[in-house]
Amino acid sequence: MKLKYFSHSAFQITTDGGKVILIDPFLDGNPTSPVKSDEVKADYILLTHAHGDHLGDTFKIAKKHNSTVIAVNELANYCIENGLKAHNMHIGGSHQFEFGRVKFTIAHHGSLTPDNHFGGEPAGIIITIDNKTIYHAGDTGIFLDMQLIGEMNKIDYALLPIGDNFTMGINDAVKATEFLKADVSIPIHYNTFPVIEVNPKEFKLKVESIGKKAIVLEYGQEIEL
Ligand code: NI
Ligand code: MN
Repeated sequence: MKLKYFSHSAFQITTDGGKVILIDPFLDGNPTSPVKSDEVKADYILLTHAHGDHLGDTFKIAKKHNSTVIAVNELANYCIENGLKAHNMHIGGSHQFEFGRVKFTIAHHGSLTPDNHFGGEPAGIIITIDNKTIYHAGDTGIFLDMQLIGEMNKIDYALLPIGDNFTMGINDAVKATEFLKADVSIPIHYNTFPVIEVNPKEFKLKVESIGKKAIVLEYGQEIEL
């Protein structure tokens, strides 16, 4: 499978079978994204929560490509009520889709939609495709249950917010890599706006100093997992 980073929390996964899965596709309003919403397609869109910088261009993309949104119940229902196809899940639940397995975890954050509807609880997402497991933490502060996530899942790639202010900052995210025992950590949710400006190389160096691996992805970079 391939993993492409659009900046902020937005990713594209392309499976060996050719399915395209977007995560938190915040593109058009995102000053750091190298692509706009009319340049991507999606079979599925995974959402961690309803904030505008995560819900992003979900409606534009899903309407155009008939994508299925996968989100917690309240946010999935919001998408359905507004004309999209969705698969409702909730925290702690997992489901086998045609492309792989998806499980929702807790996240400590908020989840109001841009038009002020309750989006349910914010979440992290564990995605297992072709025997590789990716944990996208969503927007969250650090929490001790990350140890449990690391104990019960072999996390190959942990996508962790480091931008501080709204989420974990660098030191908390480094601690999170210890809790998760992730093979490789990838920093997200930084430098999109002035208030979340940090140096991702500092994260990488600190993760390496505890004997772990981190990769700082360029905006638009795609890697083979
Ligand atoms: Ni948020
Ligand atoms: Mn956010």
